[in-house]
Amino acid sequence: MSAPTGTDASALKRDAARAALAEVSHGMRLGLGTGSTATAFVELLGEAVAGGLDVICVPTSERIGALAKSLHIPLSTLEETPKLDLAIDGADEIGPGLSLIKGGGGALLREKIVATAAKRFVVIADAGKVVEALGTFPLPIEIVPFGQKPTTRKIVAAAQALEISGRLTMRRDEAGELYVTDGGHHIVDAFLTRIPNPAALGEALDGIPGVVEHGLFVGIAKTAYVAGPDGIRRIDA
Ligand code: A5P
Repeated sequence: MSAPTGTDASALKRDAARAALAEVSHGMRLGLGTGSTATAFVELLGEAVAGGLDVICVPTSERIGALAKSLHIPLSTLEETPKLDLAIDGADEIGPGLSLIKGGGGALLREKIVATAAKRFVVIADAGKVVEALGTFPLPIEIVPFGQKPTTRKIVAAAQALEISGRLTMRRDEAGELYVTDGGHHIVDAFLTRIPNPAALGEALDGIPGVVEHGLFVGIAKTAYVAGPDGIRRIDA
């Protein structure tokens, strides 16, 4: 199947978001993801809140928090609301067993903290995100600014030890400056082509000083709602 484009993809993202909204009920504590699909979800949630749905939400980025606030969705923090019932977010790739690459939008650290603070983490996506093996999408790796060079060298060595090759680039913003996350870190995008063993690579990256977080979400998502031209497919882990 080829990846949907333009307005097709937007409509599918909204379909997936609508499917996930059906999981939301009165009184829930929700985690709100970041990205265009999560934005579609927040917009639908805003309509439901305007219609009387009572929820409290923790956003995964400053920008999704601002959108939610503009829609009068009640917001909280993980300090005030450390346990969430449900977190809903998009993904850059959905692989076998609902392993994911996330962080294309740069919010991977807060996204992983929020996803793992929730009893249930649900992914929403258009069908173009489903892959046989992760890795076509560059893997975002969030690093601290101090010691970038040794950190990136260790990332290359960790991938090579698992027989994964590729190249790394430091992400830049529109002005050409090093991209800075909401947490004040930088992002390395790892162009690896294929990640046959996401759990092993994730563990190796977790062990590198200077790596704050990476975009491999393995064993976290419980369900995905994937919207295609023929409707919604629900995938359970
Ligand atoms: C944000 O950091 C990401 O993890 C997004 O969830 C991911 O990039 C998917 O974004 P879209 O829904 O815009 O494709």
